[in-house]
Amino acid sequence: MAKKLRIDKVLSTIGCGSRAEIKRYCKYGIISVNGDVVSNPGLQVDPENDEIMFEGKVVHYREFVYLMLNKPDGYISATFDKFDPIVLDLIDAEYLIYEPFPVGRLDKDTEGLLVITNDGKLSHRVLSPKKHVPKTYYAKIDGLVTEEDIKAFEKGVTLDDGYETMPAQLNILVSGETSEIELTIHEGKFHQVKRMFESVGKKVVYLKRLSMGKLKLDESLALGEYRELTEEEIKQMEER
Ligand code: URA
Repeated sequence: MAKKLRIDKVLSTIGCGSRAEIKRYCKYGIISVNGDVVSNPGLQVDPENDEIMFEGKVVHYREFVYLMLNKPDGYISATFDKFDPIVLDLIDAEYLIYEPFPVGRLDKDTEGLLVITNDGKLSHRVLSPKKHVPKTYYAKIDGLVTEEDIKAFEKGVTLDDGYETMPAQLNILVSGETSEIELTIHEGKFHQVKRMFESVGKKVVYLKRLSMGKLKLDESLALGEYRELTEEEIKQMEER
C-alpha cells in the first residue's frame, strides 16, 4: 500500500518552507494535489504518486535516495567533521534535503565506492557483521606481495589488537617492489586492509574500494562524482 504523509511534512522536507510557513501557504492557494487546491496542511497525500504542485511547479518527493560516490582522497566519510571536508560536501542540495549518510566508512585517504543513502535499514543490513557482505579493494603495496601472503590471508591473520581476521581472498596483479593487488574481505574492522598488510610486514600506499556485495564502482564516475543507483544496483549491495 502506498505510504501516506501530511502535505506540510512533504513540502517542508523538500525545502518549500517550515511547517508553519506551509500552513500559511495553504491559505494563499499556491499548493495543489492532483489539480485540487489544498487548504488543509494536514491533508494526507501519497507523495510518490500524487501530483503535488507548489507555486505552479510540480515538486518531487521520495522516501529514499541511494547514491554511488567515487570518493576522492581527502574527504571524511561522515555527516560532520570539525576540520576536514566531508563526503556530503560533494552532494547537491536536491539530495541533502533527504538527510543521507554514508554506508560505512572509508578512510580519509581511501578512494572508490561509497554508497550514500537515507535508508537506515538497508545500511544496517549491509554493515551487519552477521551478513558478511564482501568488499573488494584494489591496493598498491610498498613491498613484494607473495604466495605466502595469499595463504596467510586465506587462513586469517592476527591484527595488532589480537583480532583474528576471517578468510580473505588475495589476488596479486603485480608482484614487485611496489605490488598491486585485489583483496576481498567479508567483514569491516577499522583500517582492516591496511592492518592486514601490516600484519605481514607490508604497507598499503594506495587504497580504493571496487565493490560492495555485487555492487561495482561505476568506473565512468570521476573522483568526486556520483550518480543515483538503479533498482538493480540497490539489490546488488546485499548480494554475495
Ligand atoms: N580498509 C582500510 O584499511 N581502509 C579503508 O578505508 C577501508 C578498508
